[in-house]
Amino acid sequence: MKDIYTLGIETSCDETAASIVLNGRKILSNVISTQIDIHKLYGGVVPEIASRKHVEFVLPVINEAIIEAGITKNEIDVIGVTYGPGLVGALIVGLSVAKAMAYTLQKPLVGVHHIEGHISANFLQYPDLQPPFICLVASGGHSNIVQVKDYGQYEVIGRTRDDAAGEAFDKISRALGLGYPGGPAIDKASKSGNNEAFNFPRVRFKGSLDFSFSGLKTSVLNYLNNSVAKGEVINVPDVCASFQKAVVDILVENTIKAVEASDYKKIALAGGVASNSYLKKCMKEAADKAHVEFFCPDPILCTDNAAMIGCAAYYQYLKGTISELNLNANPRLAINER
Ligand code: KG4
Ligand code: ZN
Repeated sequence: MKDIYTLGIETSCDETAASIVLNGRKILSNVISTQIDIHKLYGGVVPEIASRKHVEFVLPVINEAIIEAGITKNEIDVIGVTYGPGLVGALIVGLSVAKAMAYTLQKPLVGVHHIEGHISANFLQYPDLQPPFICLVASGGHSNIVQVKDYGQYEVIGRTRDDAAGEAFDKISRALGLGYPGGPAIDKASKSGNNEAFNFPRVRFKGSLDFSFSGLKTSVLNYLNNSVAKGEVINVPDVCASFQKAVVDILVENTIKAVEASDYKKIALAGGVASNSYLKKCMKEAADKAHVEFFCPDPILCTDNAAMIGCAAYYQYLKGTISELNLNANPRLAINER
């Protein structure tokens, strides 16, 4: 079969990213221009600034990805782009460029769901991995347990009813003065903390694999506010480690329940929170105990990147799912909506 080069483009939040992926599985380039240092000044992503920065960076990032891959733009076979969910102004930037390139180069355009991209990062990390498997997708905007039935075939069987796991990390980090993004800061601070110092609440829904993190967040914030009011010293590593354990316990518990209720023998992680060292350790241990295989992409493939979008686009292209050039950004796109 002829080699297929896919250009992936990702601009749904605060990274401008482009990548060339060969035959869906091999990364030839993976260029990421992050805006984290800019948004850090405001304690979180400012949508208007994100859009403007994407406009500034998107073309140089795409050019760099093509050059680094050692191909020319005429050799691109498929153009994959995130068209939702995400920040609408940010999505439109990548989508407009992708449509313009598809039109001028006369190549097929494939709109990719951002979460489908995150799940696909596992196919890049593990070239032999095949569906079906259970995937826990935990990022700044999502916490989902997904049955990956086949390439491009998903069923969400658990979701957060309020905050996403990454969002909880970001909010607690902010309250502790550890900055944005919160996940890596809390992960690091937790290493020297006692994760049993505080018994923060874990929410379980009977007969459901759903999550809820807002009660946990409120409980940590109440503890911090009360301590400040009483003039008590806050042990930051202990708070971080106990909070992190509360999040991880539930993520692991529900994912194991999901795999045990299925015939699947594999668990994969995806999304920014999947780069959390404690989550990886606990999920691996739980998977071993349940006799299921465990997969987790390297941190660079867990957080937003375009290689994952290129991979997802390749499998949609193989199935003949091509988007029209009037494709619009959809900030609240559902995973099976096409
Ligand atoms: O997937 P991602 O890059 O963007 C979204 O699609 O949201 O995820 C970003 C989220 C942020 O909330 C960040 O705090 C979290 O992932 N994150 C982590 C870690 N690294 C990033 N959370 C926990 N532990 C980490 N090591
Ligand atoms: Zn993401």
